[in-house]
Amino acid sequence: MVELRVGLLGLGTIGTGVARILIEQKELISRRLGKRVTLVAAADRDLTRDRGLDFTGVRLCDDANAIVTADDIDLVVELIGGYEPARTFVAAALASGKHVVTANKALIAKHGEELFPLAAEKGLQIGFEAAVGGGIPCMKALREGLAANAIDSVYGILNGTCNFILTKMENEGANYADVLKEAQALGYAEADPTFDVEGIDTAQKLSILAAMAFGSKIRFEEVFTEGISRITAADIQAAHEMGYRIKLLGIAKPHGANGQVDAVEMRVHPTLVSLSSQMAQVSDSYNAVQISGDFVEHTMYFGRGAGERPTASAVVADIMDITSGFPGGITHLAPPMGFVESSRREMPTMPM
Ligand code: HSE
Repeated sequence: MVELRVGLLGLGTIGTGVARILIEQKELISRRLGKRVTLVAAADRDLTRDRGLDFTGVRLCDDANAIVTADDIDLVVELIGGYEPARTFVAAALASGKHVVTANKALIAKHGEELFPLAAEKGLQIGFEAAVGGGIPCMKALREGLAANAIDSVYGILNGTCNFILTKMENEGANYADVLKEAQALGYAEADPTFDVEGIDTAQKLSILAAMAFGSKIRFEEVFTEGISRITAADIQAAHEMGYRIKLLGIAKPHGANGQVDAVEMRVHPTLVSLSSQMAQVSDSYNAVQISGDFVEHTMYFGRGAGERPTASAVVADIMDITSGFPGGITHLAPPMGFVESSRREMPTMPM
């Protein structure tokens, strides 16, 4: 049986989840693929912590370089997070002929335009389904299920931490700072939670979604971005009395004429959504993405947007896609970046 050998960088929350799936679902995965996926090695700075897993047969080390250059590894999973050293390790893995799967939206949003061509030159793939929407297969939806559509809009709740905070503040009258600590303890928040609460994480995910949907360049720094750190209990209450709920939304819409996309409007900000809307029902750490296409009309994707198990589920799905070699004929995971020159900063206008 053909075997794909995996090396894992980072055994934090998501890395532990990926190791768990690769070890505990090994039989199910090989049955589905007709190919074996084996966790060969994993690197982390802290190898003393008990992760509740049997790592027998897995080479554990504290040196990521040993994994990205190893001869017995075909695919590197990057779950270190952040820009550096993640970028350096991913570039080195590609240079040494290994496919890469990552959940790192910061990396894809900032360095994707540099890394995707490196992969393409070598006929390698970079899987990043887990970078957007946690366990929701929204990249796959854009790349495959909706591939025949011109996309009219993409918007949604893209940050589990913020949705968790807003839900707890509304339902339990909880204090903002306390709920943020809870989100960190549950493994939802970024290492620097400013990325969550100030909307930067949502802007990064939105710019990746827009690249997939519209071919726009990934320019998350140019997205109008306002987070939830200044939302008070009184704001939430006032919104409720008017028939709305406050949600942090990322919104992307194309501009142009005759089916030609000239620019993409992107914005991230707290938004009043009607209490009767589907988006208002999305609570806790769940994410939801609505994608509208010219033929399919409205579609919506919903699921856990953060945390060990859902995010790991998306990472392993990418590993499996790369292992299977896309028998359906979709051969490239990269977004078709670059044919739209600009993204446009726009201030929020209408409540949705
Ligand atoms: N910090 C992110 C969130 C993790 O809360 O959504 C998943 O990308």
